[in-house]
Parts: sequence; C-alpha cells; structure tokens
Amino acid sequence: MKRIKRTSSRILAVGILDKMIPRVLSCIFLIVIWWPCAARLFDDGLDTYIKNTMKCNTVPGMTLAVVKGNETWVKGFGMADMDTDRLVNEETLFVIGSLTKAFTSALLAVLLSNNNKGISWTSKLSDILGNDFEFIDPVRTSQTTLRDILSHRTGLANTLGSLCGYPSGLTRKDMTRRLRFLPEIQPFRETFVYNNMMYMLAGHVAEVLGGDTWENLVKTKLFQPIGMHSTTVLTNPSQVSGGNTAKPYMIKEGKLVNGTERLYQIFPEEPAGAIMTNGADMVKWMKFILNKGRTETNLSLVEQNIFKECFQTMNHLDPQFYDHQISKPTFPVEDVRLGYGYGWSTSFYRGYTKFFHGGTLMAYKSLIWLFPDHNIGIFGSANGPATDESDRALNSVFYYLSDVLLSEAKWINETIACTFPKPFASPFQRPAKIDPDQVNPVKPILDKYVGRYGSVLMPDMEITKNGDTLMFRCNRIAGILHPTHVENEFKSEVTEPWEVVLSSRYGSNETELTTVVFKMDGQKANSLEWQLGYSLVFIRNQGFFDEYVKSMGAESRFGWRIFVFIMCLNIVLI
Ligand SMILES: *[C@@H]1O[C@H](CO)[C@@H](O)[C@H](O)[C@H]1NC(C)=O
Ligand SMILES: *[C@@H]1O[C@H](CO)[C@@H](O)[C@H](O)[C@H]1NC(C)=O
Ligand SMILES: *[C@@H]1O[C@H](CO)[C@@H](O)[C@H](O)[C@H]1NC(C)=O
Ligand SMILES: *[C@@H]1O[C@H](CO)[C@@H](O)[C@H](O)[C@H]1NC(C)=O
Ligand SMILES: *[C@@H]1O[C@H](CO)[C@@H](O)[C@H](O)[C@H]1NC(C)=O
Repeated sequence: MKRIKRTSSRILAVGILDKMIPRVLSCIFLIVIWWPCAARLFDDGLDTYIKNTMKCNTVPGMTLAVVKGNETWVKGFGMADMDTDRLVNEETLFVIGSLTKAFTSALLAVLLSNNNKGISWTSKLSDILGNDFEFIDPVRTSQTTLRDILSHRTGLANTLGSLCGYPSGLTRKDMTRRLRFLPEIQPFRETFVYNNMMYMLAGHVAEVLGGDTWENLVKTKLFQPIGMHSTTVLTNPSQVSGGNTAKPYMIKEGKLVNGTERLYQIFPEEPAGAIMTNGADMVKWMKFILNKGRTETNLSLVEQNIFKECFQTMNHLDPQFYDHQISKPTFPVEDVRLGYGYGWSTSFYRGYTKFFHGGTLMAYKSLIWLFPDHNIGIFGSANGPATDESDRALNSVFYYLSDVLLSEAKWINETIACTFPKPFASPFQRPAKIDPDQVNPVKPILDKYVGRYGSVLMPDMEITKNGDTLMFRCNRIAGILHPTHVENEFKSEVTEPWEVVLSSRYGSNETELTTVVFKMDGQKANSLEWQLGYSLVFIRNQGFFDEYVKSMGAESRFGWRIFVFIMCLNIVLI
C-alpha cells in the first residue's frame, strides 16, 4: 500500500535521484552471496539484473524469498552493514513495516476461529470493547466493525504520533480510548483512508480476545506454529543495529548514511508495522498463506471461511490515491488494482490474481506478492535509501521474477528498472514552489508563542526561540517556524530527522512547508493548530496525559476543536 497518498512522491523522487546517481555509484559496492539452493532461479541473467537494479536505485542491501509450489529460494544481496562490510544473507533481519498488517489480521482470524462467543469480522467494536471504545460520532461508535477498521474504510484521520514518538506510560488500551478524538476526513464506509491507528486498534482487539499482549499473541499463535523462529517485533530501536540485522541507510547529499536509530520504535502502533523478519521465515509465511492457513506440518491454524475474507475486496481503492494504474496502452502489461481486504490488496497482473502489500518503516521498504492460483509467492525487503528508489527497485525485481515464475515474456529490462515509469509514462514533476504567504512576512514578536502545548492525540509540541527564529519540536521531529504575511500564522519546515525531511521533499530540494496558526488570548498564544498534513489543536500548558484526563470528561470542548484534516505526510510509516 505504499502508493497510497504518496501519489506524486513515488514518481517524483525519480527526478532528484537521477541527478544523484553518478555520485552515488562511486560510493556503493554491491556484493552478492550465492546460496546453493538458489542456483536454479538466481541464474546469471537474474543476478546481473538484480545487481544493476539495486545499483541504479541506490539500494544498499536486499533480501529476496521466492516460493513456487514446493520449491523455495532465498537469497541476500548487497550490504547489511556498510561499516563492517557485513553482507545480507538468508537469515538477515529486515523491518517489514506494513507487511505486519497481514499478521494482525491473520492473528484475528486465528482468534475468531477459536472463539465461542460468536464474534466475527462483522461484530461491532462497541460489543467487543464496551465502554473503552468510542469514535467521534454516534454512528461510527455504534456501527464500526472489525471489517471496517481492517479495510481502511472508517474515513477517520491517522495521527503522526508514532513518528514523533509517544511518551512512555501510554498503553494500547489508553490510546484506544483516545481514538474518540480522531476527526473524520471522509464519510463513513465511503472510501479508502489508510490508517495505521486502526491496526493499533485491531491489535488491541486481539489483546482483548486473546487475553495477552499483541506481541505475545503474534508469537505464540503465528510465529511459533508456522516455524518463524527468527521473527520478532521491533520494540527497541537498538534492534535495527544489533545481531544479523540489515542496518537502515538513507541518502544524504548523494551518499548513503546511517539511518536515525531512535526513530525505530513506533509504540503503540506495532500491530500496523513493527515485525522484523528474514527471507527464510517469510518463505514459511508465504507457504502458510498459499496453503490457506496450514503450516508445513499440515496443522490448520484458522477456519478457512474466516481466513479467506482477509483476501477479499472489502473496499475499493480510490484512484485518486494512486500515481497510476499500470494498464494498456500506456504500459505494455496491466497490473490493475481491484481493492483492499485485511492487510492485503488484490490486483490482476497480466490476468493472474495477485495479493500484495508494501511496507515502509523509515529507511526500510518491503514488498510481498502472492499468485494464489499458481502457488507463487515473492517477498523482498531493502534497507535503504529511504526514498522511493527502493520501491522502484523492489517492484522492478518483482515484475521480472513474476514473469519468470509465470512463464510470461518479460516486459521489464535493466534499463526500465532504473527509469520506471519512464519510458512508458513521465514522472510527475512538482512545480516550483512559491508560497505567497511567505512574501513580505510580518516581523513577529516571538515571545508570545514560546511555550509547551499539548494534544490528546499527539505528543507535546514545544515552541522555542533561537535568536530571531521560532523553532518547534514534537519529540523526535523538529524544525523551524517561518513567519508569513499573516499575523500569528507560520510555515513549519521539518529539519530533523533527515528521514522525514527526505520524505517531505517530493523530488525538489525544498521541504514541504505546512501551516501552524497560533490562537491568541490577549498578548499570549493559548493554542496552536498544526497542519502537518492535517490540522490538530494543541492547548498551551496541557500535557499529553493531563489533557487526556480533562478531555475525557469534556468531549464537546475538543470535538469542535479538532479540525477535519487531510493526511498527506503519512509517508515514513506505511
Ligand atoms: C514437489 O512437488 C512435485 C509435484 O508436485 C513432486 O513431484 C516432488 O516430489 C515434490 N518435491 C518435494 C521435495 O517435495
Ligand atoms: C554509522 O554507525 C556506525 C556504528 O554503528 C559508526 O561506526 C559509523 O561511524 C556511523 N557512520 C556515520 C557516517 O555516522
Ligand atoms: C492435510 O490435512 C487435511 C485435513 O486435515 C487433509 O485433507 C490433507 O490431505 C492433508 N494434506 C497433506 C499434504 O497431508
Ligand atoms: C528495454 O525496454 C525498452 C522498452 O521496451 C527498450 O526501448 C530498450 O531498448 C530495452 N533495453 C534493453 C537494454 O533491452
Ligand atoms: C535547489 O536549491 C538551489 C539553491 O539552494 C537552487 O538554485 C536550485 O534551483 C534548487 N533545485 C531544485 C530542483 O529545486
């Protein structure tokens, strides 16, 4: 689901990277490890193609796992750690981001298969969670089902809280109670609004049904019976640099540099994107799915009628969320998206049914494709460079492999793997940005804005002054507030971490600016409205936990304050 709402960014990044490639080429070395079992699939032609694709897209390391019937291949390419020259091998762990969502829905399928309380995909959340559950309006509160939250059709906004980093002390139950403040951005059940918080909620439902933490449940009900013994959940940032893990890399001034380790903790949204796994274990996962919920020892973990719903289209995909459909005559083949189930999308690739999902967590990008009618599965993950180049690399490798596995004539080649969507379609060019609000800015007195502001949905926002510059910080995200010609209105520019700066650039060398408006009470600001892709009100001198207590008893006070918002910076976590 990588492409959702990133419409332009995916293609756009092509522009800058084209310019960077010559410099980048001199800095990376791609080394390939051979695995004897891989010999039949990974022949010289495929091998050269993958190396070339990684090189021109600046991908430091990649793992690939393939299943076809009872044959499997796993192979590592490139670097897991560029400082020590450690290579990716078939055991190297990668963070798979939103590929985690399919584990959360499969876990629920297991729990629903074994419940005697009549709970199903269409049970109301209010019946399962009772008083802990409420959404912004009575219709959603009384009607929302597991099917709605898993297929991204609640129409509610996401938050960027996990990107900032929530304060410790928050629990999933507590976050679930706060979801009543999430504003609506689309009508209920009408369209597709991708929402990681809804998978946090689904993870919490699993906790209530299974009587344990999501982390323990996903381990005991899935990883262990399927035999995924190396698979784990990313809960501590140090996991991305320890052991046999592919370390995250991002691109800065044309060079691959270390990713920002502290970002790799997304509590409480782990059920939406925090599984770490490797090619060898993902072979077992793909076989489990292709065998309709049976393990290698022929143990059935789920009722088939319950499990199959995960792969059925429950929500159409709104074309406005995509850069393009791959279809004739623009492209030589078609890969037409049909819709979304529970952590799985469906498309028809060259007429074959394909289940797929993408995953991003900061620098890591992953992809899984299954052709269920042919018992074919492909998994891949890359540890950089935190731009859409890794998407292009993975997709280019997957199209090539799919054609080999399906015995179709190849349409993609080494040239196209470095230029896609060119030569078939033009990359979307973002027009040069001139922000009229920034012309002739007022010279504001900054002291009246300085302070700490809190929200019920996001970590606290700290506004400080550095000389004549107003600065903001929301835990791990920080930047500058530029004055505009409108009084009390600023444009926020994220300056750290670099991963977020990269993802908000959309192919130009400027960071996307978003609006922050202060609301005044006499000479001092008493609240601010941050539009980091959506608008959210922060109240002066209220902490994340204080606000929660007060607002729980005074919803109307917040109901109107939380503005309808549009999510467009949900880029580094999908
Ligand atoms: C794989 O499947 C084929 C036919 O479906 C069978 O002939 C072969 O023995 C199987 N190989 C293994 C290793 O199970
Ligand atoms: C990257 O991290 C490693 C430690 O994991 C360190 O030795 C190295 O100097 C770092 N590189 C840069 C460019 O910061
Ligand atoms: C797996 O078990 C099912 C029913 O329990 C049975 O029908 C099927 O033949 C078994 N498959 C294999 C490969 O043993
Ligand atoms: C790759 O395919 C494109 C489009 O079909 C074609 O123009 C180009 O010559 C091909 N390149 C190679 C190296 O085969
Ligand atoms: C990048 O920034 C420089 C000045 O800092 C500017 O001259 C150049 O046009 C910019 N390039 C793009 C692609 O925006």
